[in-house]
Amino acid sequence: MAQPEPKLRVLIPAEQIQARIKELGTQIERDYPNDPLYLIAILKGACFFLVDLARTIQRLTHIDFIGISSYGKGKTTSGEVKLTKDLDASIEGADVLVVEDIVDTGITLTYLIHVLEQRKPRSIRIAALLDKPSRRLRPIQVAYTGFQIPDQFVVGYGLDYAENYRNLTNICVLEEG
Ligand code: IMP
Ligand code: MG
Repeated sequence: MAQPEPKLRVLIPAEQIQARIKELGTQIERDYPNDPLYLIAILKGACFFLVDLARTIQRLTHIDFIGISSYGKGKTTSGEVKLTKDLDASIEGADVLVVEDIVDTGITLTYLIHVLEQRKPRSIRIAALLDKPSRRLRPIQVAYTGFQIPDQFVVGYGLDYAENYRNLTNICVLEEG
């Protein structure tokens, strides 16, 4: 029997995403007195956010990417995390801003921050486009948050469900059937 088509409902339209990113960029630009600012995106979802955010920051930035897998293709983190792609360069003494698409349980970022802190950056903060605070299992400090959203599964603007929908410009709620 055919599967029911998932329905996409727009939660945050593209214009609103871009406007908020501009605000975050202005704030970040003011907060960091030293160049360069080292932006690290967590693959794959955060790439879209990193690209748009970096273009709103009018100062010297370096960008890099890190891969993390949390085992499992469903809608929740399994709790086990591992590094699948490392950074290209050292971050010793650097001002690091970890760029993430969404903070859910906080397990991924807790692991990543622990790994990166051992490399002795001068500072390390998190920028997350979306935050689902009601789902948190690990306390995590997010310095720059785009939007707080309720406990709903979202796709688009980098976020996927089974690798689909990353290229949508709006952030949408994925509704079954
Ligand atoms: P955490 O470790 O539970 O905080 O998981 C964060 C990761 O889970 C994110 O980087 C996303 O890849 C994924 N994730 C959490 N919530 C959603 C969602 O609503 N849509 C798509 N991916 C999500
Ligand atoms: Mg992710």
